[in-house]
Amino acid sequence: MEKPKSTSKQNDHAWQALEEHHPSIANRHIRDLFDKDPNRAENFSFQFGDIFIDYSKHRITEETIKLLVCLAESKKVKEKINDLFNGKKINLTEDRAALHTALRVPKASAIKIEDSSIASQVRQELEKIRQFAYQMQTGKIKGSSGKVINKITNIGIGGSDLGPRLVMEALHQWSNKDITFDFVANLDANDIDASLKNSDPETTLFIVTSKSFTTLETLTNAETAKQWLLDNDCTDIARHFVAVSANTQATSKFGITEDHIFDMWDWVGGRYSVWSAVGLSIAVGLGMDHFEDFLSGAHEMDLHFLSEAERQNIPIILALLDIWYNNFFHAETLAIIPYDQRLQRLPDYLSQLIMESNGKEVSTKNTLLDYDSSQIIWGSVGTNAQHAFFQMLHQGTRLVPVEFLLPIQSTLSLTHHKLVANCVAQSKALMLGQENVNEPYRNFSGNRPSTTICYRRLSPRILGSLLAMYEHRVFVQAVIWDINPFDQWGVELGKVLATEIISEIEGQFEVKPQHDSSTSQLISYYLANRDA
Ligand code: F6P
Repeated sequence: MEKPKSTSKQNDHAWQALEEHHPSIANRHIRDLFDKDPNRAENFSFQFGDIFIDYSKHRITEETIKLLVCLAESKKVKEKINDLFNGKKINLTEDRAALHTALRVPKASAIKIEDSSIASQVRQELEKIRQFAYQMQTGKIKGSSGKVINKITNIGIGGSDLGPRLVMEALHQWSNKDITFDFVANLDANDIDASLKNSDPETTLFIVTSKSFTTLETLTNAETAKQWLLDNDCTDIARHFVAVSANTQATSKFGITEDHIFDMWDWVGGRYSVWSAVGLSIAVGLGMDHFEDFLSGAHEMDLHFLSEAERQNIPIILALLDIWYNNFFHAETLAIIPYDQRLQRLPDYLSQLIMESNGKEVSTKNTLLDYDSSQIIWGSVGTNAQHAFFQMLHQGTRLVPVEFLLPIQSTLSLTHHKLVANCVAQSKALMLGQENVNEPYRNFSGNRPSTTICYRRLSPRILGSLLAMYEHRVFVQAVIWDINPFDQWGVELGKVLATEIISEIEGQFEVKPQHDSSTSQLISYYLANRDA
């Protein structure tokens, strides 16, 4: 696809100033910028509690940051942040607020939720989560045959899966060892099949997590789970199901009792919902106190985001760097590389958070964008990634900004310094490069940007702060691009067409729907070969 030209930005002074500034940076090597400024590392770093962020290995000068901050000011980012926290209906296409920040406001906080009914709904639900987590942890929840439930399987997809799955994997060292956890998302029956094979029907509880309670994958898997229970004589299925949903009618119809239904609200988007009852498995697994630490960590980042000036504001500066590469260098992707096995799910989580939020082609005024929006998010854990795709990061033709995440302390390993050394070495090699004129295949051009996010030790609080940081960064990007990050209409068409093709395959139409020849061919090929 031809690269969109930012013509609509022609009258935008702040944008134009960056366009004009860009060539002076594009022709410079980061290594020279370090040579010129002995304080560069310090000047381009943030300390936030136990999190330390070094963004000095970027193709920026103080002038770049100044111009980027002017861009943020001209787009009224600070004003828009206030709108977000104040519950203004900024999700215009759905006429909704996006108040995920309200889910993590403690009683005594500087942030006051304007709508007091929202504050009380959140508190009530947290109390219900606390009680349920306590009952689970003390063996009070029993299955159909009277045996204590000791396994929880979360059935959900997208935001109803990725958040709790990421947190449970990342913080498994904190988890209650008497209860095991599983996550089932895919419509492919291999997913639930593998889970059921490792489960005892008498002692398994399914948390069906679906804001809409209409999602094909989740309902199909929930029905499979129900049948599996019935096939195994667990006839009192209500004892084996909990629902987290905004659609209480559908949850009751499924057979879930009121005391097992946890609320979601239309002012929380799926990919921003890990802080709500969607995090029920986290509260059960880690205990309510740790779940609240996770919320507190996010709240601390909220306070920072709300109160710090642009230049000192972590989500704002990191979002501006995203804009710098995306719209001025036309870098298409951002690689997320945690040097932390426990965060192996982070690239998946962030790909939904960032691309489902900002993968948009129309502005809030419904005009077609003529500049690029969301980057493509990808990545994998270090050091594994070094032996897979780092070749391309070091010598490929594309500019790929990289984000490293690095724990400073490890309780497990006496060789943790080796992991740290590898991460630091990679960012150094990407930036510095190494010239080899005689053997071009051994030449490293360098000048490849990266951010390194260090944290003392992964904990519920730190993970909460990091995830909130990413949420806010997405928001700032959206403000600059003038798009709505809180809807996801782009997923609808595929869902509608899949429903139609399912009906066709099931033989429900007298007159078959018309397709293009490729789609007809694929359906016919399936029908002709499915039993062969
Ligand atoms: O199809 C996309 C989506 O709506 C996501 O935004 C959401 O996180 C996911 O599906 C699951 O939706 P639900 O929680 O309603 O099942």
